[in-house]
Amino acid sequence: MTSDKHARHVAIIMDGNGRWAKRHHLPRAMGHQRGVEAVRKLVRSAGGMGIECLTLYAFSSENWSRPDEEVSDLMNLMRKFIKSDLPEFIANDVRLKIIGDWQGLAPDIVEMLEDALEQTSKGSNTLAVALNYGAQQEIAHAASLAAQSGAITPETIAANLYTADLPPLDLLIRTSGEVRLSNFLLWQAAYAEMSFTDVLWPDFTPDHLQSALDDFARRERRYGGR
Ligand code: IPE
Ligand code: IPE
Ligand code: MG
Repeated sequence: MTSDKHARHVAIIMDGNGRWAKRHHLPRAMGHQRGVEAVRKLVRSAGGMGIECLTLYAFSSENWSRPDEEVSDLMNLMRKFIKSDLPEFIANDVRLKIIGDWQGLAPDIVEMLEDALEQTSKGSNTLAVALNYGAQQEIAHAASLAAQSGAITPETIAANLYTADLPPLDLLIRTSGEVRLSNFLLWQAAYAEMSFTDVLWPDFTPDHLQSALDDFARRERRYGGR
C-alpha cells in the first residue's frame, strides 16, 4: 500500500450538478442535493480504498458570483450535511478538515464547522472540504506568511498552504467533462495525475472512483526524471 501506485491523497472537482438537474428537468437545487448524496457515498467508501485524504471542492471563492438564491441553497445544504453526517464521521474515524477562507462564511456555519472540526480531530482518514477556496488566494497568503518568517522558497510556501499537513496530492479528478482546474489546488497539482470524466457529479459513484484509482495505478510518474 506504500508504493507509488497507491493514491494516498485524491482531490475531486465535483462539477455538473446544474447540468444533471437540467437533464432530469429538475430545479438546480435538486442537482446540488443529489450531489451531496454522491459525496456521502464516496466518503463512506474512500477509507476502504486506502485513501488517506479525500479533498473535495465544494464552493469556490468565485462561486459567490452565482445568483443569491443558489448561493443560499448551497449554504443551506452545507448546514444540513454537517448536522446529518457529523455522527457518521465520528463513528467512521473521519477527520474533517476545511480548506479555504471558511472563517468568512456565515457565523452559524463557522460555529458548526468549528464544532465538527473539534469533534473529529482524532479521526485517522481525512475528509478535506474546500469552502470559499481559491488556489491563487491560498498561494498569495502562503507567500506572505513565508515572507514574514524569512525567505520565500517552494518549501516555505508549501509549509504555509492549507494542505501543509496532508500527504502530497496524487490524483485530481474532475467530473462533468470540463477540462480545467478552476482555481483549485494549483500549487499542489504540480505533479498530480489528472483524471477527467464526462460523468456528472450526482452520477459519480464509488465504482467510478475505483476505476480512476485503477487507472492511476497503471500510470508511470516521472517527476521530471527518466
Ligand atoms: C458543481 O456543479 C457544484 C458547485 C460548483 C457548487 P455546478 O453547479 O457548477 O453545475 P454545472 O457546472 O452548472 O452543471
Ligand atoms: C468549480 O466548478 C467549483 C466547484 C466544483 C466547487 P465551477 O462550475 O464553479 O467552475 P467553472 O465556472 O466551470 O470553471
Ligand atoms: Mg460547474
